[in-house]
Amino acid sequence: MVKINENYLKLPGSYLFSTIARKVKEYKEANPAANVISLGIGDVTLPLPAAVISAMHRAVDEMADKSTFRGYGPEQGYDFLRNAIAENDYKARGVDISPDEIFISDGAKSDSGNIGDIFSADNVVAVCDPVYPVYVDTNAMAGRAGDYDEKTGMWTNIVYMPCLEENGFLPQLPERRPDIIYLCFPNNPSGAAATKAELKKWVDYALENGSVIFFDAAYEAYITEDDVPHSIFEIDGAKRCAIEFRSFSKNAGFTGTRCAFTVIPDELKIGGVSVKSLWNRRHTTKFNGVPYIVQRGAEAVYTPEGREQTRALVAYYQSNARLIKSELAAAGFSVSGGVNSPYVWLKTPDGMTSWEFFDELLEKANVVGTPGSGFGPSGEGYFRLTGFGSAENTREAIERIKAVFCK
Ligand code: MLT
Repeated sequence: MVKINENYLKLPGSYLFSTIARKVKEYKEANPAANVISLGIGDVTLPLPAAVISAMHRAVDEMADKSTFRGYGPEQGYDFLRNAIAENDYKARGVDISPDEIFISDGAKSDSGNIGDIFSADNVVAVCDPVYPVYVDTNAMAGRAGDYDEKTGMWTNIVYMPCLEENGFLPQLPERRPDIIYLCFPNNPSGAAATKAELKKWVDYALENGSVIFFDAAYEAYITEDDVPHSIFEIDGAKRCAIEFRSFSKNAGFTGTRCAFTVIPDELKIGGVSVKSLWNRRHTTKFNGVPYIVQRGAEAVYTPEGREQTRALVAYYQSNARLIKSELAAAGFSVSGGVNSPYVWLKTPDGMTSWEFFDELLEKANVVGTPGSGFGPSGEGYFRLTGFGSAENTREAIERIKAVFCK
């Protein structure tokens, strides 16, 4: 008889953001008059930059003309976009990445989830705790996580690196040697950022131990501090031990438009095998490329107008995050993040669990956030709010939170 992938049966409940969406939908159905403000999932609310829209309009017109129409494009992405990324995201920061080390894709979520395809199922994986749930769930699906322990909320084969207040929400080197280390900086969910010295510690560790770092830099546009690298490849030696995931979602508003990229340097070899060549094999086999129109839109992010408009979008969300942080701190909440990140990480008041706070916030303030425990056991007692709402809704949500919890 046909067999299913039984690893899926081990997954607890549904994907975090689907659970939240369901709860919010149920609440709205039961309370149709409620004006619910979402500061939950990290989804942008402002439209795409004008430069991106114009470029996509031009690309649509090209698709309407026989002489400029395009069918399948290169799976790895068009040269115009790979060149623009190499030039602007890397060369401009003193990092030498060649366009053919860049793979255009439809999302950092997909790539950070799919990258496991090219690594053996018996690798030991380490994640920060709390963690973006995609890293854990996709390893569980691949059979790399062992079994889920309901009591601890942990998978038996995953190495969890607690990121707590006492360590500045930064992971410490693990006692058990992992083969694969997921790092996300600026961090989702805590908003913590890693300095150059901090990242060097991880690159040195990976090189000494023969591990690979999967570095998720989806939030690099939010970095405001000088000693925080935008790319892991700013660290010497990283090209021999790291893969980087980037996205146009959080900087240029592509959450619904879908465009991202993954960088795998030629120097990254395992047992003499080029990791880039394996990913190229996977990508060309399982993926047909991002639409031409979308890639032209992404290319426009790097034009002078596109850069300015993108900076304005990021500044808008940054200012929301700063406001959430400063207002809630002034109201007596313990808050972090929000400096190099659109995410603010707050400690739940009065020892409430993350989900208790979620329910109370939804019911009494009609505000949606993300429970910290949904990101892992060390997230218990924490709560994530995003700066991605509108400025008006953000202000309104802050006032409502204060009215309910700061009597
Ligand atoms: C989040 O809220 O953590 C993000 O929106 C998730 C994502 O980008 O997939």
